[in-house]
Amino acid sequence: MEQKKFYITTPIYYPSDKLHIGHTYCTVATDAMARYKRLAGYDVMFLTGTDEHGQKIETKAKEAGVTPKEFVDKIVEGPQGVKDLWKLMNISNDRFIRTTDDYHVSAVQKIFKKMYDKGDIYKGSYKGKYCTPCESFWTESQLKDGCCPDCGRPVVDAEEEAYFFRLSKYADKVRDLLENTDFLQPRSRVNEMVKNFIDPGLEDLCVSRTSFTWGIPVDFDPGHVVYVWVDALFNYTTALGFLNDQYNDYDKYWPADVHFVGKEIVRFHSIIWPAMLMSMEMPLPKHVFGHGWLLLDGGKMSKSKGNVVDPYILAEKFGVDALRFFLMRTFPFGSDGNFSNELLIQTINTDLANDLGNLLSRTTAMVGKYFDGQLPAGCKACSAPEPFDTDLIAMASALRDAYEAQMESYAPHNALAEVFKVIQRANKYIDETAPWALAKDMETNGARLAHVLYNLLEATRICGILLSPFMPESMSKLFVQIGAAADIQTWDSAAVWGALPETAAVTKGENLFPRIDMDKAIAELEEAAEAAKKAALPAIEVEPQLTEQVDFDTFCKSDFRAVKVKACENVRKSEKLLKFILDDGTGVDRQILSGIAKWYKPEELVGKTLVAIVNLPPRKMMGRDSCGMLISAVHMEKGEECLHLLMIDDSIPAGAKLC
Ligand code: MSP
Repeated sequence: MEQKKFYITTPIYYPSDKLHIGHTYCTVATDAMARYKRLAGYDVMFLTGTDEHGQKIETKAKEAGVTPKEFVDKIVEGPQGVKDLWKLMNISNDRFIRTTDDYHVSAVQKIFKKMYDKGDIYKGSYKGKYCTPCESFWTESQLKDGCCPDCGRPVVDAEEEAYFFRLSKYADKVRDLLENTDFLQPRSRVNEMVKNFIDPGLEDLCVSRTSFTWGIPVDFDPGHVVYVWVDALFNYTTALGFLNDQYNDYDKYWPADVHFVGKEIVRFHSIIWPAMLMSMEMPLPKHVFGHGWLLLDGGKMSKSKGNVVDPYILAEKFGVDALRFFLMRTFPFGSDGNFSNELLIQTINTDLANDLGNLLSRTTAMVGKYFDGQLPAGCKACSAPEPFDTDLIAMASALRDAYEAQMESYAPHNALAEVFKVIQRANKYIDETAPWALAKDMETNGARLAHVLYNLLEATRICGILLSPFMPESMSKLFVQIGAAADIQTWDSAAVWGALPETAAVTKGENLFPRIDMDKAIAELEEAAEAAKKAALPAIEVEPQLTEQVDFDTFCKSDFRAVKVKACENVRKSEKLLKFILDDGTGVDRQILSGIAKWYKPEELVGKTLVAIVNLPPRKMMGRDSCGMLISAVHMEKGEECLHLLMIDDSIPAGAKLC
């Protein structure tokens, strides 16, 4: 029989900043789902990657003084970059796409041309609102209080010649897809999309830009670059080899089974994406699942709000598996959830240290203590089972199906809840059977004790298999401790009670999930976050202060005044000098030359209020008089001199004396 296939994707991440725990959430969820499907026997393709074009990246690169490609290379490939983070988090993606990869670039150009040739992309002129941080166009009616409806930040007016995609043409088909199929999940997201975007009327979408260059060029019209969302969405197909020779998996895996995406990008995935695929006459993905956000103090995590949580710090402190588990166990996948370090530690202590950790360590310790690490043959059977034996066995035997139903409906939190019901049942079984009491009379109760411990090992094995997509490393260690070989770590064997050999070699190994001291850990986390913040600050060197003192009268001889820049220009034949014409409040223009052309463009200084010392004797510079000196702040950063002209409030009048 042909192996069933499963193609799952995460969104491709903007490498504009270091990723935080919110980004990690989606990728861990996708990874757990991919691992579950592999376990269940599917041939899985799991794709992730980075979305590297757009104005935001271009601007950030400029600020950093590097090219956009250099900028994204560092965040994607560099230390603690995107790839590093996925490695640390044990993400098992089969492929990683970068939208700057050549094969993707040329495929997107072909896609754009195809839609143009078909008449679904046409040239027009764009007037509207643009949110630069979100790279999103909005119509007036979509704005919320005049701001971007996604992030709440101000938008800017935009008008330019542009290409448009006939989104309006596909409005009815998209409505039908959303309303009458299970394409978009959870169902609550359908109402959001229909009410907010389809009901008001879908307008054609602007799909090219001319005001910046960091994008995929429209090859038949130089000057235009492809709108970053068109470029980004098609990654799901180009990464399989669609319209390129890099890969050859398109026929095998497309259409995708599911795209996991955060709720703010559901609009792109459930309206624009299917409409473009319809235009391209390509099959649609089977599902889009819009998960919720991890919130911090009730708001979305973001670098600009300064409230991001560093997954590196958490993984180092608590372990990768504990962090993965926490993310999946605590927050219902379709809803928002409030992240806190306290909740993380509490979950680890309750579920992992107490429930799972205790079950494993008590069971393996008792097999060691009472049977020298090996139960006797025949311990599987019991001629007169107690009701709690039957109950535990029934629950553990039914677990795989209950878990599967939850995973299939993209509810990993519920799948984990099912597993923990069995773990808790098994711990209760220890109390009910009181093995330590049975052990007091081994002659009479030895066989019963062996049976009880076998049941505990078997329940642990089944839970271990179903937890392995969430905590792969720890479950490998758990299997070693209970003596479960590879052939009974399988999906099939998770539905077979009694698959563990009766005489398996059991060893009480390391404590997989040590209990965490909440107060100590919180204090350490705060310290680590503080240290990371400091380390992220640029290394700044300031000149040592002078120790020689000047008396007050001498100091007062220097005349500092507020001056307004009336005109400013580069001095011909000089790379360094700017010439200022200043209003110093005397009614006569003052000319000052200043060697700051490296840091400022003349036009950005006109109108500014600066500080000048005005009673220095005039000095000739490049043949011109300079009457005074402008005051700046100077420091060294990464070996480079940095200069900031002292600018003061424009309400201060020209000529005001500074004292
Ligand atoms: N580049 C686009 C996706 C293009 S897909 C064709 C993008 N990138 S992103 O880096 O901004 O976000 C990537 C994913 O991280 C999104 O699904 C987003 O919802 C998710 N998250 C970012 N912060 C998050 C939380 N605080 N919580 C949960 N997920 C969050 O969007």
